[in-house]
Amino acid sequence: MLKLLRNSWLWFAVALVPLLRAVYLLAAGELVNPIEFITRSSGTWTLVFLMLTLSITPLRQLSGWAGWLAYRRMLGLYAFFYACLHLLTYLWLDQFFDWAAIVADILKRPFITLGVLAFTLLIPLALTSTQGMMRRLKRRWGQLHRAIYLIALLGVVHYWWLVKKDLTQPIIYACVLSVLLGWRVYKRLQRQRS
Ligand code: HEM
Repeated sequence: MLKLLRNSWLWFAVALVPLLRAVYLLAAGELVNPIEFITRSSGTWTLVFLMLTLSITPLRQLSGWAGWLAYRRMLGLYAFFYACLHLLTYLWLDQFFDWAAIVADILKRPFITLGVLAFTLLIPLALTSTQGMMRRLKRRWGQLHRAIYLIALLGVVHYWWLVKKDLTQPIIYACVLSVLLGWRVYKRLQRQRS
């Protein structure tokens, strides 16, 4: 059982479930507003995968099991994958590739500006996620990939700013992110003291 749970392929397949569910609901004609559903679902899963990626270091430190690291790249790439889907839905189904309208929207709605900024920052991380790039960039790889903290923060604020009434969900993400970043600050202070 434990061996099965440690199988990366299993988690690779599990991470595809949100996409397969959306495709199924779309094909079955069960969605009242398909564009809204895909935009929201892909946005949610981008944020979830960002949080999961950030959970790996605390999990490794708490459990002492280095095997967690094997999942980090896959989770980060899934965050990028769902972010691409999210952006594509917006560009294609929401804005019909009307670039003038898209630029105007980015400048007009601050939550869109933050979303674009978060996505832009994700691109270099996805491009340098390979073992080869890790070796080539050495220390700079770690420095570059610290951008994930800012990306996750931008993602939470993006969500917070777009919600009009009930802030429960963005508050939950903000709390999770505070714990994940707070843990890093705590470990750093602990290292400095010892
Ligand atoms: C890392 C990048 C991003 C993250 C983490 C993210 C996350 C989210 C989340 C969590 C939602 C709300 C889902 C819900 O309502 O349940 C959302 C909605 C949305 N996002 Fe993003 N997003 C990102 C980038 C972008 C980009 C680049 C764009 C467009 C250029 C964008 C446009 C939108 C739009 C239009 C909505 C729906 C707003 C509404 O329902 O009124 N997002 N996003």
